[in-house]
Amino acid sequence: TIAEPEVVKATSVDAVPNPTSQVDQMLAYVYEQTRPITHGVLADYIPELSKVPADSFGIAVATTKGKLHKVGDADVEFTIQSTSKALTYCMALELVGRKEVLSRAGVEPSGDPFNAIEFSPETRRPFNPMVNAGAIAISGLLRDILGEQKAFDLVLDRFSRAAGRQLSLNESVYRSEAATGHRNRAIGHLLLSVGAMTEPVEPVLDLYFKQCSVMVTATDLARIGATIANLGVNPVTNEQVFDIDAVRDTQSVMFTCGMYDYSGGWAYEVGIPAKSGVGGGILGVVNRQIGIGTYSPRLDSNGNSVRGVASYRMMSDSLGLHSF
Ligand code: DON
Repeated sequence: TIAEPEVVKATSVDAVPNPTSQVDQMLAYVYEQTRPITHGVLADYIPELSKVPADSFGIAVATTKGKLHKVGDADVEFTIQSTSKALTYCMALELVGRKEVLSRAGVEPSGDPFNAIEFSPETRRPFNPMVNAGAIAISGLLRDILGEQKAFDLVLDRFSRAAGRQLSLNESVYRSEAATGHRNRAIGHLLLSVGAMTEPVEPVLDLYFKQCSVMVTATDLARIGATIANLGVNPVTNEQVFDIDAVRDTQSVMFTCGMYDYSGGWAYEVGIPAKSGVGGGILGVVNRQIGIGTYSPRLDSNGNSVRGVASYRMMSDSLGLHSF
C-alpha cells in the first residue's frame, strides 16, 4: 500500500495577530516622515470643501486577505470626489461592456487639467473617464441604463459594498457643488452637442455631483482598493462587487490617467494604479495584493494631495509596490 502523503496545512499569515508587523512599522515611519509637510492648499472652488480641518492625515492599507493596517486619521470622513470616477467607470463597463463605454469616453491620457473643456479632436469624445468630461459622460451612461430615479442609489450601494460598510452622502458638499458647478454644466452641454450624452443634462450633473459627495475614510478607500485588487471580490464580505474584466480595464485607466497631469510622473515614481480626488483622498491598488487609502486635504497644483503623493512614493519604495 502507498502511504497517504502528509498534508501540510498552510497557516494564513493574516490569521496571526501581529500588531507590530513590518507593514505597521513602515506605515508609522512613512506617517512620521510625511506629516511635517504642510504645503499645498485646500480646494476652495467648491466652497464647502475649504471648511475641512487642513491638517488631517491618515493612511490605511487593506490586504486581499482581509487584514487592515492604519495610522493617523484613517477613520475621518471626507468626500470621495474624483476617486468616484474609477468606480462608476467600473460599473459602466460591467453594465454595458467596453464598446458602448468607449463610445462615450476614450482611454488616452489628456495632458490637461482635470476640469479642462477639451475633447479628442479625432473621436470628439472626452480623452478618458478619469477627467471631469469623461466622468460626466460615464455618469450620463449610468443614468441612461439605471434610470434617473434609481441611478444614485445603485451607485451608492455599489460603493458601499466595495467598502464593506454603508456609505452616505454629504448633503452640504453636494449642495455646494450643485450650486457652483457651472463649468461641469458647460461640459455636460458640450457632451450633448457631440452626441456623447443624451438629454436631459441636469439630472446627469446631479448624479455626478452626488457621486462626488459620498463620504469615505482612508480605511474605506483601502478596503475599496483591496476589493479591486482582489479581482472584484470584497475580501471581508466575500461578495463579488465588481466584474473581473471591468476591474482589469479600470485599473489600466487608473494607471495611465488616474492622477491628472501627474499621471506620467506617478506611473514612473510610484508605479501602481491610483485615483485621486480634490477632497484629499488617494485610492491605490496593488493588483492581487493590497488596497491603499490616504487622506490629507492640502493639494498641489494638479489637484493631488501633497502628503498623499509623498507617502505613496515612500510606501512604493519601502514595500516594493512598483509594477516594474
Ligand atoms: O468636478 C468636480 O469639480 C469635483 N466634484 C470632482 C473633482 C475632483 O476631485 C478632481 N480632482 N482632483
